[in-house]
Amino acid sequence: MCGIIGYIGNRKAAPLMVEALKRLEYRGYDSAGFCTINNNRTLIEKDVGKINEVENKINLNALNGNVGISHCRWATHGNVTKENAHPHTDCNEKISIVHNGIIENFSQLKEMLIKKGHKFRSSTDTEVVAHLIEEYYKNNIEEATRKALQHLEGSYALGVISVEEPDKLIAARNESPLIIGIGKGENFIASDVPAILKYTDKIIYLENNQMAVLEKNNVSITDINGNKMEKEPVKIDWNSELAEKSGYEHFMLKEIHEQPRAIAETLNGRTENGSINLKEDIVFSDEELLKVSRIIIVACGTSWHAALVGEFMLEELAKIPVEVEYASEFRYRNPIIDEGTLVIAISQSGETADTLAAIREAKRRNAKVLSIVNAKGSSIARESDSVLYTYAGPEIGVASTKAFTSQLVVLYLFTLYASNLRKSLSNEKIKELIEKLRKLPLQMEALLHNDAKIREIANIYLSKQNALFLGRGINFPIALEGALKLKEVSYIHAEGYPAAEMKHGPIALIDKNMPVVFLATKDIYTYKKILGNIQEVKARNGIVIAIVTEGDEEAKKLADYVVPIPKTLYILSSILAAVPLQLLAYYVAVNRGLDPDKPRNLSKSVTVE
Ligand code: F6R
Repeated sequence: MCGIIGYIGNRKAAPLMVEALKRLEYRGYDSAGFCTINNNRTLIEKDVGKINEVENKINLNALNGNVGISHCRWATHGNVTKENAHPHTDCNEKISIVHNGIIENFSQLKEMLIKKGHKFRSSTDTEVVAHLIEEYYKNNIEEATRKALQHLEGSYALGVISVEEPDKLIAARNESPLIIGIGKGENFIASDVPAILKYTDKIIYLENNQMAVLEKNNVSITDINGNKMEKEPVKIDWNSELAEKSGYEHFMLKEIHEQPRAIAETLNGRTENGSINLKEDIVFSDEELLKVSRIIIVACGTSWHAALVGEFMLEELAKIPVEVEYASEFRYRNPIIDEGTLVIAISQSGETADTLAAIREAKRRNAKVLSIVNAKGSSIARESDSVLYTYAGPEIGVASTKAFTSQLVVLYLFTLYASNLRKSLSNEKIKELIEKLRKLPLQMEALLHNDAKIREIANIYLSKQNALFLGRGINFPIALEGALKLKEVSYIHAEGYPAAEMKHGPIALIDKNMPVVFLATKDIYTYKKILGNIQEVKARNGIVIAIVTEGDEEAKKLADYVVPIPKTLYILSSILAAVPLQLLAYYVAVNRGLDPDKPRNLSKSVTVE
């Protein structure tokens, strides 16, 4: 939520910040702003709108200077107005700040500062920080910021510059992500790695209650009390091209097409000689893992859907009881955690506030925490006992696509690893299951090359306001995911349901205007029943779109449209079945003239609870 870029070095800061901030636009796009310091003056340009629109409205050329901070906003406190856009300044426009997070005690602070004579220009929570720093400023911006931080309750990632000390850029973090990029003769701050990968791959992850002072040739880190800390930069192995659109019209489409590669990378080195090798990733000993008698998976949104698929995999193959929890609900009950409980957290960004809070609660209750994360070094990764990374590369599109299928692959790998340890599957069986898994990238490639049918089906949705997605067993979470993808990028109201539940209510919605997507791949469990459900919808004139296994003639006779997916194991078919649903959501959004990379009201990384 909200994106921050800051720069100090020899280049002109403003154009660099505009360019880098565009890569953070997935974090917020209701307004944007830039501040530089030049010739003892604070220069600020900001306005409402997406970064491109703001760029066209402001005078970038006027922003000279080699130090600057910038921000794209996802409004929490205060309407979307120019006044509320960041950066914000103190009374004399000498101190400028950008902020991501929520200052929970801003009303009290504001009241106190107004009494002291401070003049406020915005209705944001953020502005109090600029005035608080002003209150403490005595020729040392680092000290003044440190003193101000002592009063803040809530979450913040902050960038601060002062006209009095133009050779310094201050950064501070509590509960909202902030990284420092180490360059040669220049340094950066950013909310996320992909934004500055073009300039440096050496990253320091600022942790809670840490501050940094960036100069062009130096970065020093302290805790909030001013104690010096040594932190080695991490080298990021993501290729900067992955953070570009590379000829695709949107990141969402590019990332859908990157899935075969993301899966191959995620498998790389983990499936050798017919067995699963996760020894380098999992710190728990075999004995510890064998003692696990129950797993709780916590996640939000799309990652929560992955968790539901994981539940099916782990119970079916590894025979471990699994419960799936919304991370946002987990700590508001009294979760029962005993010695045998393993908590698995799933998160693409590794920064989702609710998921982070859930793992903290789990650790407080002495659970072992394993996380499945895409963003290396992120908060969830750092705070978990063990991390299984997905290697999907940076995911920029707000709607999660390649991260989701990579999460499913990791869950499958972990399931097979646990099945081997617990001897719930024979070595031969595991070998066979791995072989099927290794075929997935190529099968997905074939599926992606054949999207003409999906484009045709997308036209049906042009005039629709409602849609249903139905599936059973392991495909029920895929139905949920299909519905979520469609609603978030096309604004069509969509519901995912277990197909048999339709008769208990939603069937009342079916008429000739209702498109119903069925996940109807062949399996020994529910296939015949799904065909029955298709007939029930057809009998009520609904429009049936069926995702079927290649060569299935029976389903073809019943459905209005079929989308075949390659033959694979039932359990893996859910990974392939997700792809046409992602494409469907994408093409429906584009047909309706919407930008799927920037769906309204959404932010990629939900770092507020
Ligand atoms: C939907 C989507 C969100 C995220 C959710 C959790 O397309 O992207 O529902 O899945 O906000 O985010 P992470 O996985 O980063 O914790």
